[in-house]
Amino acid sequence: MKNIWRNNYHIDAPYGLINDPNGLSYFNGYYHIFYQWNPYGCEHKTKHWGLVKTKDFLKFSSPQIILKPENYFDKNGCYSGCGHVKDNILNLFYTGNVKNEKNERESYQCLAKYYADGSFEKKGVVIDKIPKGYTAHFRDPMILKHEGTYYMVIGAQREDLTGCVVVYTSKDLEKWDFKCELSTNLKDFGYMWECPNLFRLSHDKYALLFSPQGLKKEEFRYQNLYQSGYIIGDLDFSPMTLRDHSEFQEIDYGFDFYAPQVFKKENENIMMGWVGMPEKEEEYPTNLDGWIFSLTLPRKIFYKNGSLYQEPIDEVLNLRENKLEVINNVVLDEYVFNTRKRSLEVEFNLDLEHQDFIDIKLEFEGEYIILHYNKKEEVFVLSRENMIKGGQGVRKFLLRCHDTLSIRMFIDNSIIEVYYENGLESTTFMYFPNSNNMRLRVSGSSPLKINKLDIWNLREIIYE
Ligand code: FRU
Repeated sequence: MKNIWRNNYHIDAPYGLINDPNGLSYFNGYYHIFYQWNPYGCEHKTKHWGLVKTKDFLKFSSPQIILKPENYFDKNGCYSGCGHVKDNILNLFYTGNVKNEKNERESYQCLAKYYADGSFEKKGVVIDKIPKGYTAHFRDPMILKHEGTYYMVIGAQREDLTGCVVVYTSKDLEKWDFKCELSTNLKDFGYMWECPNLFRLSHDKYALLFSPQGLKKEEFRYQNLYQSGYIIGDLDFSPMTLRDHSEFQEIDYGFDFYAPQVFKKENENIMMGWVGMPEKEEEYPTNLDGWIFSLTLPRKIFYKNGSLYQEPIDEVLNLRENKLEVINNVVLDEYVFNTRKRSLEVEFNLDLEHQDFIDIKLEFEGEYIILHYNKKEEVFVLSRENMIKGGQGVRKFLLRCHDTLSIRMFIDNSIIEVYYENGLESTTFMYFPNSNNMRLRVSGSSPLKINKLDIWNLREIIYE
């Protein structure tokens, strides 16, 4: 039983619980991946910041605790935040979560400095008050620089219990002034917006990627407890407005994806998310082994035809060890691949011309997960109904394909990430099969015309 669900190439909680990726930065030649970490147990309590560093997403430094909830301004948790490099110092902004003597919430935006030699120091509070009109649900700072000014966006809740983002500005990263609320057309869209990211795509086009809470479930959207998604528009800095923005679009339709964070490396926007979902810890059987939750692969984000596309960054190709399958232009009744080692990347392109539907099934001796694409209705259905352990249920989303269907899947011991149509959509989810034997079966309503199919065995990441 022990550790059969530890992942091979996803960053898992070393022990205890991890959630949001934090402080993501490329600094001093290394990707710095901080994350929310409760090192004491598998509950959402005593949040520290953990850190792993890597150059290549293959070799990582051993997980290390950086921020501890030990001061008056963060005693009940060093909550989420970002990293910003200036003068060869990585400035870490985070929210100090405090429950006061009356058991009321207080939120402080705090700064810690992380130096190139690996040492760090807490600098304390940079924003100690909550502006008028907002509740203490005020957290998850993220920094953006524009024409010599730093802008900090913070996830907030208005006093009328609707979610929004507020903006502070600074010239030096230390003294911050309240500027305004970020104006969007989403005036009444959930009760709290967590983890806002505001980042530039091209010219004046910016994306606001955030995690709203309290959206009502619909047939093809908002099916998880909480969502993560984005709007894209033209950003005016004064007054801060995301003009003519698109409709809110979810960034991932899987069961277990939340609180993503975006950071820049040169001109590339890279995103990592939390593989998990708040408030369902009992569903995940790894907590019996003393650890729970993971982070997604790093994904580059690019803007095409009005949408954000995602694709693992090039370093993820370092994971490919050997090719297990190469197929070009064949017609089969169905495609079947058997394995005992779930450390795979599977990529294929299928002809859709004569198909009404496509089924992608992952079978584990009696249990299975199925991804069913209905071409006419342009609907993908992802079902974990036939799994025994872990969460079950169904997720549905719309996907428009043309003559072919392109899928790229990353299959790890307890995580699957699927990218559809070259990253137009993605689904990230956990699964906990009882058997190590897996059969991948791909079939359609007619014989399957495979234009291309490749499978790689992926390496295990190493902590040094
Ligand atoms: C999102 C979140 C953040 C908060 C952190 C606490 O998952 O709730 O809003 O800062 O987690 O762990």
